[in-house]
Amino acid sequence: MIHAMRDVIVAANWKMHTTPVDAGELALTIASRTREPSVIRVICPPYVALAAVRDALAASDPDVGIGAQNVHHEAAGAYTGEISAAMLVGLAGWVIVGHSERRRDFGESDDRIGQKLGRATDAGLRAILCVGERAEERDAGEAEAVVGGQLRGALAAHDPALLAAAGLVIAYEPVWAIGTGRTALGSDAALMADAIRGTLVQLGWGSAAEDVPVLYGGSVTAANIAEFLAEPTIDGALVGGASLKPDEMAGMVARASLTARARLGAA
Ligand code: PGA
Repeated sequence: MIHAMRDVIVAANWKMHTTPVDAGELALTIASRTREPSVIRVICPPYVALAAVRDALAASDPDVGIGAQNVHHEAAGAYTGEISAAMLVGLAGWVIVGHSERRRDFGESDDRIGQKLGRATDAGLRAILCVGERAEERDAGEAEAVVGGQLRGALAAHDPALLAAAGLVIAYEPVWAIGTGRTALGSDAALMADAIRGTLVQLGWGSAAEDVPVLYGGSVTAANIAEFLAEPTIDGALVGGASLKPDEMAGMVARASLTARARLGAA
């Protein structure tokens, strides 16, 4: 069944690419080539380029969302080099939490990611919570259990109504697909989206689970995004490598607009 009301989102995760000098121009180029009002576009540059991207888009494309790639789990304190949710207010409206690269490189636990989620939503930031299994976990038939555990670990301490009102987005990103050129099958990603919403129901979300956008991420490009957007349970993509290329972004957002317009027509 097509869920007519869910947002269609294409979110660009620039990771540790671009500088404050070139990020604004890249954002402007991408914004001008992706003007599709039916699609929610989000650009997540490095922290230090947030202001440049905000300023570049302010006049011409204020409807492009700007996101941070991380946030600290405490509100303030002696955390040298860290960035709190309050510091992001005015720079970003969105934030990625729980990306697998941070789980892997910085040992972020589900519990910690849950704290980050709380800080983000308290500050009025819209969070994109990343979940996904590793290759050996999928091979062992444990993919849904792993993702379910990640969701329970991050979400159980939160009031579903608050997270739903804050517009929580979940990105299913199988670790083995990130930056590898290998993608999940659209059908497997769709099954995982169902499993994700099933876990939300178990966590007490009730019918609000159906309203949560679930994105697919992992080697998405303009050439393969259609496979995911063809699945009614998938609501867009979180894109790394291809999101730095204006041609790719133009192609992905154009394809996303077909889905978004079909949903608006069905509403
Ligand atoms: P990728 O990254 O598109 O380069 O695979 C996706 C992500 O890490 O969000």
